[in-house]
Amino acid sequence: MIRWWTSALQLTELFVSTVVHLLYGLYIFSTALAGDLSQVMNEWFFKANVNGVVKEEETKEILTATATAATETSVDDLPPIVLVHGIFGFGKGKLGGLSYFAGAEEKDERVLVPDLGSLTSIYDRARELFYYLKGGQVDYGEEHSKAYGHSQFGRTYEQGHYPEWDEDHPIHFVGHSAGAQVVRVLQQMLADKAFNGYESTSDKWVLSITSLSGAFNGTTRTYLDGMQPEDWRNMKPICLLQFCRLGTIIYDWLDIPWLKAYYNFGFDHFNMSWKKIGIFGLIDCLLGNAGPFASGDWILPDLTIQGSMQLNCHLQTFPDTYYFSYATKRTRRIFGIKVPSSIFGIHPLLFIRVLQMSQWRHPPDVSPPYKGYRDEDWQDNDGALNTISMTHPHIPVEHPSQFVGHDSECQPLQPGIWLVIALSISLYWIEPPLPT
Ligand SMILES: *[C@@H]1O[C@H](CO)[C@@H](O)[C@H](O)[C@H]1NC(C)=O
Ligand SMILES: *[C@@H]1O[C@H](CO)[C@@H](O)[C@H](O)[C@H]1NC(C)=O
Repeated sequence: MIRWWTSALQLTELFVSTVVHLLYGLYIFSTALAGDLSQVMNEWFFKANVNGVVKEEETKEILTATATAATETSVDDLPPIVLVHGIFGFGKGKLGGLSYFAGAEEKDERVLVPDLGSLTSIYDRARELFYYLKGGQVDYGEEHSKAYGHSQFGRTYEQGHYPEWDEDHPIHFVGHSAGAQVVRVLQQMLADKAFNGYESTSDKWVLSITSLSGAFNGTTRTYLDGMQPEDWRNMKPICLLQFCRLGTIIYDWLDIPWLKAYYNFGFDHFNMSWKKIGIFGLIDCLLGNAGPFASGDWILPDLTIQGSMQLNCHLQTFPDTYYFSYATKRTRRIFGIKVPSSIFGIHPLLFIRVLQMSQWRHPPDVSPPYKGYRDEDWQDNDGALNTISMTHPHIPVEHPSQFVGHDSECQPLQPGIWLVIALSISLYWIEPPLPT
């Protein structure tokens, strides 16, 4: 009887969780669409009504162009800042006018926001990021692509976004959530000279890495949403992620050009379009015999504690790079238990997720992900990641770090060590205005 009740409760939780997530996704998508439509309408209205002022417009344009050119020459040597999105994230040009980084890319031409696919693995994202900056066709590497069953070569960037990138022209990187790990993997690849035809790459190509709620040690969210704690590359047969898996496969298979231009999971190199694999290929993917979810080459396994440990084994903190880390949380302790820090002024979905994560317990019948694992260490969270995971890379080995109260205390700046700043917020949410 108790077992039956537990299953019923679990199914209800799954149902509620799925509905709320779907609604949230729909909300973001329709916000983007509405924003775009209203922009198109505005432009159309503007054109229809103000034909007479074209001249003035033209002069204005020239003036702006000159002003931009002038600023460009004076700050030419400033390194670009590359903002790297996390899971379900998107870069400039995706989801219409919506900005993942709250419009930071509008502030300066040197702020770059690549689109690395919203569910692709950390490894694939790092490869893509390199070619996004340098230009050329994305080369995922022969060994990796064979092992994970995708094409070795991906899309082509006709024009790199910073082709002069090298040791003398290094870059500042800012990574959110999984994006922070992507940049670390890229820096390691640069140090390992892992890009064919680029023999001179080194860790010094990266001037600084700033992590916003970085996913350094993985997150228990992955298990909550369906990854198996005992077999972290695979998911449970019934879970939120299964819906996500089916949706992604069908989305990619349908391959509707305007929709994919609008939002892309980033799995083009897996050839899941109906044009390439036909109906039998679709069945194969759905049954779990092919595609990213079958080989485990997608983001969720990389975000489990075990997956992160495996990545971290190969990643160094380099002596000449500056590292900053902003760790966030939306939980607090009441009567000895961790709960969401507020009910008001917090999006309901975020509230549910923070609560779920603060209550998650590692299944006692499964061996813990590492020696010394304690549930209580992993209860503080921001709805997506555990705070313990965000400060700096820890497992399996401790990287140098120092906690600072405020940005200003970072002076004088010191390279080769993670400077950690803790905040009581959640960054993962485009928090919509609440109904009043
Ligand atoms: C995907 O399709 C391209 C050509 O369309 C082909 O070159 C490539 O080998 C295919 N990759 C896989 C993994 O089937
Ligand atoms: C990662 O896990 C380790 C356990 O080995 C823990 O000590 C550490 O605090 C965690 N990392 C971060 C960044 O907090």
